[in-house]
Amino acid sequence: LHIVHIAVEMAPIAKVGGLGDVVTSLSRAVQELNHNVDIIFPKYDCIKYNFVKDLQFNRSYHWGETEIKVWHGKVEGVSVYFLDPQNGLSFVQFSLIYFHNPFMKKCCACCLICCRLFQRGCVYGCADDAARFGFFCHAALEFLLQGGFHPDILHCHDWSSAPVSWLFKDQYTHYGLIKTRVVFTIHNLEFGAGAIGRAMTFADKATTVSRTYAKEVAGNSVISPHLYKFHGIVNGIDPDIWDPYNDSFIPVPYTSENVVEGKRAAKEELQNRLGLKSADLPLVGIITRLTHQKGIHLIKHAIWRTLERNGQVVLLGSAPDPRIQNDFVNLANQLHSTHGDRARLVLTYDEPLSHLIYAGADFILVPSIFEPCGLTQLIAMRYGAVPVVRKTGGLYDTVFDVDHDKERAQAQVLEPNGFSFDGADAPGVDYALNRAISAWYDGREWFNSLCKTVMEQDWSWNRPALEYIELYHSARK
Ligand code: ADP
Ligand code: GLC
Repeated sequence: LHIVHIAVEMAPIAKVGGLGDVVTSLSRAVQELNHNVDIIFPKYDCIKYNFVKDLQFNRSYHWGETEIKVWHGKVEGVSVYFLDPQNGLSFVQFSLIYFHNPFMKKCCACCLICCRLFQRGCVYGCADDAARFGFFCHAALEFLLQGGFHPDILHCHDWSSAPVSWLFKDQYTHYGLIKTRVVFTIHNLEFGAGAIGRAMTFADKATTVSRTYAKEVAGNSVISPHLYKFHGIVNGIDPDIWDPYNDSFIPVPYTSENVVEGKRAAKEELQNRLGLKSADLPLVGIITRLTHQKGIHLIKHAIWRTLERNGQVVLLGSAPDPRIQNDFVNLANQLHSTHGDRARLVLTYDEPLSHLIYAGADFILVPSIFEPCGLTQLIAMRYGAVPVVRKTGGLYDTVFDVDHDKERAQAQVLEPNGFSFDGADAPGVDYALNRAISAWYDGREWFNSLCKTVMEQDWSWNRPALEYIELYHSARK
């Protein structure tokens, strides 16, 4: 099969969250199974170009008034075409956006007129995001058509590349792309439900990123008419990208055989780096976007509960909403003065530090209110950190409570691998966290064997990539 992803986030060159991880790692996994994969991607100015290999000018084409330059390179071994439109928005496009948003900041208005679409220093966050990405989707289809590509599958993701689905069906099926089918994946129904609804209507197949989230959203009005073509496929992680045996951000390489030594060294390094007390205490890590979805009130409660139980906490997170960011800055300052030796909140996005936390933490807490899949619990397990999660979406599908889920785990041929809770209040999170910390204090040998067990579970794309390939084939029937 020839599969072309059209996407606006991609790890590690322009990653905002898990969508970026999935675009890259699913592509790699499908490619390893002998299919051809290309990704079409905006040529942002903020791309981390050191991760793009063999970048070369490929061609230039016109779509309407706009000249689009195309560059080609490889990211993590996957072929990527970078589209670089040479214009900003037209006056008409600008006026339409401005008309809907008359209180736009002056600097944003200037940016819309002066700056090219992907020269904004960021992936998201501009007033004209919908217009920019809509343009990109259309330009990507035009690139395929004019370039004489005949992919079997166009795979688009979330609201940002949803327009591929309806633009394709509306304008492109009659041309050289007659055999092409569209697969649309919902990573998060919270954003852009209107665009997602239109994409659901026109896609040949649609997926979301776990079975339980698929059930949770089945009643939603944008999903329910399309259940016959809608499937839940649990995400994987790339075991080469997340590999504690081969990770330049951690001090001692480890596998499940020397997990105790490897994690001890990482914990010491983490404590030193963040100025925490170097002590053998249970360390709870939290790595997250700080948004309502991620259970902010539960995160805050868990920080205090961990400190009460004589644990350490490291939170790495950033909030797109400045009010939430400020709130956490205040909490960070408060904790710095009251519990400076045992709590550190690092309120930024920091990829290298995230690796050290996965390796150094005993537990990774994910108390999300809803979670389509969640990758942090999977990465945690790869690094031998035990997940403590709220039972929702993909967290429910991948974390099996040591006290309650033995049978459910066995049905998946797995051992229980973590601690989980229901409800969205303090007693819920306490229920899981108290058991986790007690297990650490009371049964170190048992706890160490749990770390080994979680490390040995396979949360790679091995299985889900096959499910996608089957889905791609069924889209073509
Ligand atoms: P979401 O996509 O909803 O944010 P996921 O769990 O699917 O949640 O993916 C989050 C990804 O982003 C993981 O790879 C995680 O390690 C990473 N991540 C989240 N916050 C940060 C941060 N502040 N610094 C570094 N990496 C982060
Ligand atoms: C979204 C979801 C997250 C999922 C990720 C990758 O950002 O919030 O649960 O893991 O996409 O599919």
